Amino acid sequence: MNSIKTVGVLTSGGDAPGMNAAIRAVVRGCIYYNLKVFGIKRGYQGMIDDDMEELQSNSVSNIIHLGGTMLKSARSMDFRTEEGRKKALKNLKTRGIDALVVIGGDGTFTGARIFGEENNLPIVGIPGTIDNDLFGTDYTIGYDTALNTVIEAVDKIRDTATAHSRLFFIEVMGRDAGFLALRSGIASGAEAILVPEIKTNFDQLELFLQTGFSKKKTSSIVLVSEGDEIGGALKIAEQVGKDHPEYDVRVTILGHIQRGGSPSAFDRVIASRLGVSAIESLRNEQKDVMVGLANNKVVLTPFGEAIKNKKQLNPQLLEITKILSI
Ligand code: F6P
Repeated sequence: MNSIKTVGVLTSGGDAPGMNAAIRAVVRGCIYYNLKVFGIKRGYQGMIDDDMEELQSNSVSNIIHLGGTMLKSARSMDFRTEEGRKKALKNLKTRGIDALVVIGGDGTFTGARIFGEENNLPIVGIPGTIDNDLFGTDYTIGYDTALNTVIEAVDKIRDTATAHSRLFFIEVMGRDAGFLALRSGIASGAEAILVPEIKTNFDQLELFLQTGFSKKKTSSIVLVSEGDEIGGALKIAEQVGKDHPEYDVRVTILGHIQRGGSPSAFDRVIASRLGVSAIESLRNEQKDVMVGLANNKVVLTPFGEAIKNKKQLNPQLLEITKILSI
């Protein structure tokens, strides 16, 4: 057991539903183990601006069901500079903070890795992003809720698509990763799913849509990851519309609606597990690691590994998509 006395917790990068549940678990985990805990506002920027306050057990009452993050989030440019990080360290020292829990994605962990190494500060990360694109965990906090938001939207679009026999291109988030598109596409019965990991074959896509319509499909829905290399739903729809003026094409970009809302039961549970595990890991002298879930067990992955490695899409899910959309 180490000598940590005071933990700082922050959320950084794109927010994700379930971050509040994770903050709650970190705070209550600290109090359970007799550690002081400070909530740091607006991610790393709050460390630089000394925007932080000590939290008690009741500071995190009634937040488990709320989307967003009570600590607010930011992508701090100042923290990328040595000067910014020096200021941050000074503020942490003044408060007696001798360990950090950072909740976010790969950008957050990149910052944590540098800061932890520079100052020999124990830092544990919790994966929070709707993209689910972190190596070292099967699921990130927020992904399940975002999936449910997407399929609810796609179900509604399907009603109107069918009424008008239209072809819809629906764009979902995921700058560099197609996890959200792939899983929500399967869950909503999409005819095709375009992800950044796989080069889109335009001719094949058009042939496929043509075959569908010739079989008297009443509507077609194509889910497009925003990171698709052709350039998102609008571009793809424009091209298909040009090649096939006979199709009645529409586009919906779901956008930030995917980041909000009350977290699902699944996200609340994983956030609670990972929050407590982060504190237990710090107590067990862990640092420079992300806590994640593999086969429903908590596992630790060094930040360096989590950042460097690319998580792969499940090939079985890709195969299923082909089989089910005939
Ligand atoms: O990383 C999460 C994410 O929602 C991505 O899917 C998306 O590309 C990005 O954040 C959007 O970022 P911002 O909210 O800064 O526009």
